[in-house]
Amino acid sequence: MRLGVCYYPEQWPREKWESDARRMAELGIRRVRIAEFAWSRMEPEAGRYEWEWLDTVIDVLARQGLEVVLGTPTAAPPMWLVHQHPDVLPVAQNGMTYNFGSRRHYDISSDVYRQYCARIVEQMVRRYGRHPAVVAWQTDNELGCHDTVPTYTEVARARFAQWLETRYGEIGALNDAWGNVFWSMEYRGFDEIGLPNRTPTDANPSHWLDFRRFMSAETASFHALQGDLIREHAPGRDLLHNFMGFFTAFDHYEFAKSGLDVAAWDSYPIPRTEVLWFDDDVKHRWARSGHPDIPSFNHDLYRGVGRGRMWVMEQQVGPVNWAPYNPIPKAGMTRLWTWDAFAHGAELVSYFRWRQAPFAQEQMHSGINAPDDTLTAGGHEIARVAREVAAFESEFVANASNARQQRAPVALLFDYEADWIVQTQRHGADFDYQRLVFEWYSAFRSMGIDVDMLSPHADVSGYALVVAPSLPIVPDSLVAQIANSNAQWLFGPRSGSRTRDFTIPATLPPGPLQAALNVRVLQSESLRPTLRLGVTIDGVAGHGLRWRDHVEAGGGVTVGAAFDDGLPAIVQSGRVRMATACFDDALLRALLARCAREAGIDVIMLPEGVRLQRLGRLRFIFNYGEVAWRANAPDNARFVLGNREVGPADVAAWVV
Ligand code: GAL
Repeated sequence: MRLGVCYYPEQWPREKWESDARRMAELGIRRVRIAEFAWSRMEPEAGRYEWEWLDTVIDVLARQGLEVVLGTPTAAPPMWLVHQHPDVLPVAQNGMTYNFGSRRHYDISSDVYRQYCARIVEQMVRRYGRHPAVVAWQTDNELGCHDTVPTYTEVARARFAQWLETRYGEIGALNDAWGNVFWSMEYRGFDEIGLPNRTPTDANPSHWLDFRRFMSAETASFHALQGDLIREHAPGRDLLHNFMGFFTAFDHYEFAKSGLDVAAWDSYPIPRTEVLWFDDDVKHRWARSGHPDIPSFNHDLYRGVGRGRMWVMEQQVGPVNWAPYNPIPKAGMTRLWTWDAFAHGAELVSYFRWRQAPFAQEQMHSGINAPDDTLTAGGHEIARVAREVAAFESEFVANASNARQQRAPVALLFDYEADWIVQTQRHGADFDYQRLVFEWYSAFRSMGIDVDMLSPHADVSGYALVVAPSLPIVPDSLVAQIANSNAQWLFGPRSGSRTRDFTIPATLPPGPLQAALNVRVLQSESLRPTLRLGVTIDGVAGHGLRWRDHVEAGGGVTVGAAFDDGLPAIVQSGRVRMATACFDDALLRALLARCAREAGIDVIMLPEGVRLQRLGRLRFIFNYGEVAWRANAPDNARFVLGNREVGPADVAAWVV
């Protein structure tokens, strides 16, 4: 359990470095991430390197006992590079070429750009790879951020054509798989295939899906190019990338296979709440705390991506600059978010940023210090957390040190391709895959149930309950796991509705799931917000929303609940169920509570904003709400953080 900070020494006068490092150490910071945007200072002209400043910074930090995470600078190519090679600039979906003047202005597919990246990374890692203070390496920064993946350049098109040729071999096979006879879209050779943007109306969804897969592989290979060099020259150091919350432009599970020791992610709960799909009243309720499930949704996802190892590389400590509204967090939130991350298995929580910059794009983004070095409210909370963490460490070692590899009772299958499919063929304006997954996740969390988020290709043996809020492409391996498991299973709408090629299965949806659940979806409909379908589950009356699969139940299938018009809302065969619609919150909770109980999982209805998390023998309570809550810990519980009365924005933990 370590605290860290993101630091930009190149943005400050040298005279500040010593006192910055000293003050970091005094505050309880142990790791410092640097350099990820400093290319113009490392290589001011092509092939001319200046390392003296970075040597000095690393030594200054090391002298204070601080460990260094070095970021490769490839998210910010300098002017000389763009000037010499304007074709490295990325192209947006609408065909517009981005300009120099901010960051991420590069085409991830560009061979030329990749060569420059390999060169600077190799120089850097040869110099610092074995430095005793440098303990980890981050590649680039938030790959794909600002809509830079996918990119729609000519280079990307040519590489996509090659990728398709490798995948399909014969152009006829591609034409058949995509159904290109429709609208005379047939190609005569792979070199004729363009990118799926700038078509008068929708491009073929199969075209989109393959393009997404290709761009996902491009992102992973861009990382791997750097990762391989880091592995070679920085032995024993952790290799990581800082992912974003709720970001699906590439498949993070596949990315992790290209070489990753730790999945790190950047946590900005308040602006994230502002920009997601929530209704205005929900945004208002959580305006100063962030929605209580936003941090943990991503902790649980990235713990899965990192196969147990997860860091928070950037943690919000005050108001940021990038949402439509950027309020100051309520007192206590920096501390609460930090403990929430540790309770979900984070090894490091690193704050963004050490000091607010008085210049350039992020002037309105606060940090641990104001521009004049006054410690901010968030900074004061960090001082408190640091003391608590130091005191807590022995409890953690005694009660939870192996727990990061533990299993939650519920496996929630999160699938990147599902998101791509829904985005390509939304069908209902408000059908959003991530929203649906989040609603299921949040329902479990509000009932005190811990969740692991996993790929549908993962091994789910050992889980009591496996749920897939929606899984258009059901892998054969998952069907085999259903047959061999003792778990309870629940699938949501649109599951099994598409083949790998983005076509409707020959036996109708749910396609391969029919081996476990003998039903056919004869039609599907999307529902405008005013079209609501009455249904009652276990005494809870509510509505189906947004979507409904019209299911015909075959032999051996029971209807667990029906809509007022008689169509099935839940169908079930033994341990396998399918919900045919999206449900409102109360109904969804009733359904998931039923599944949890049948799986032998305790259901604890928590008050609004209160969340419970287990880590080994530790039990944590987080109160994101406005009302104090008396934790229902056993009488003899030994509290190691806070006490039984958990006030707003407060935290408690006990040992069982
Ligand atoms: C992140 C990014 C940082 C900084 C931060 C501001 O997305 O990685 O460099 O821009 O946002 O909140």
